[in-house]
Amino acid sequence: MNATDKVYLVTGVTGGIGGATAAWLAKQGNKLILSGRNQAKLDEAATKIAKVAASQTQIKTVAMDVTDEDSVIAGMDKAFAAFGKVDCLINIPGMSIPGKIAETELDSYRKMIDVNVTSVFLTAKHYVPKVDPEVGGQIINISSVAGKTANPAAPIYCTAKAAMNMLSAGLALQLKANNIRVSIVSPGATSTAGFWGDRPVPHDKFLKVDEVALVIGFVATLPQSIVLHDVVVEPWEFYRSK
Ligand SMILES: NC(=O)c1ccc[n+]([C@@H]2O[C@H](COP(=O)([O-])OP(=O)(O)OC[C@H]3O[C@@H](n4cnc5c(N)ncnc54)[C@H](OP(=O)(O)O)[C@@H]3O)[C@@H](O)[C@H]2O)c1
Repeated sequence: MNATDKVYLVTGVTGGIGGATAAWLAKQGNKLILSGRNQAKLDEAATKIAKVAASQTQIKTVAMDVTDEDSVIAGMDKAFAAFGKVDCLINIPGMSIPGKIAETELDSYRKMIDVNVTSVFLTAKHYVPKVDPEVGGQIINISSVAGKTANPAAPIYCTAKAAMNMLSAGLALQLKANNIRVSIVSPGATSTAGFWGDRPVPHDKFLKVDEVALVIGFVATLPQSIVLHDVVVEPWEFYRSK
């Protein structure tokens, strides 16, 4: 399968890493289904991505809330109808609400679990049965270094990403039978406005979204004969100074 035959479904394209990943793939000349939960924001992101796309790139959009099963069912139907198949599903949405346990609302806890973990369960649940094992498929889940090392600022986010890692590892084993490769990409701190909000963090020391997109794009475009299980990405200078 060459680059232009492969169909990618990228969720969370209205965010920093998702938008950059979709733009990276669009520059390669692929068939892209861009997804976000809000149609107006999604259209705005798709317009930006189309501007940097190679001439042969084809782009469709599918609005879907990845924490809502009915929305995922409808979204997955539309995604498969767009080009007749989805070769690679890239699960990007995630969020953190940092804070001390005693001050964390149950709603915040549930939101972190929903957006970081339930989303992967739901999209995988409704992607897998639609993949033809003769053709094969691929799932790439965006985790975080926070899923590997606890930190005191955001213990629930760390828990959610660790759970997502275990779900991905289980899927990787279970979906061998379906000819679906599963990979995790775990970035370190990355400069995005959505994730960090107005928290006072050293954006200049963080990974840039284009650097993370390069790695996700690399994993996504590997030949079908290779699987990368878990890729950890860190900014070199930040890593050196730790
Ligand atoms: N930034 C970092 O330092 C960093 C480091 C390691 C890992 N990560 C992970 O990388 C991923 C992307 O992060 P980012 O920094 O690019 O964050 P971001 O800019 O805030 O983007 C998050 C994306 O998730 C989407 N989203 C949230 N809830 C959703 C839902 N229910 N249904 C569908 N989409 C939903 C957002 O959509 P809306 O635009 O509609 O809100 C947005 O597109 C996340 O999984 C994050 O945990 C981030």
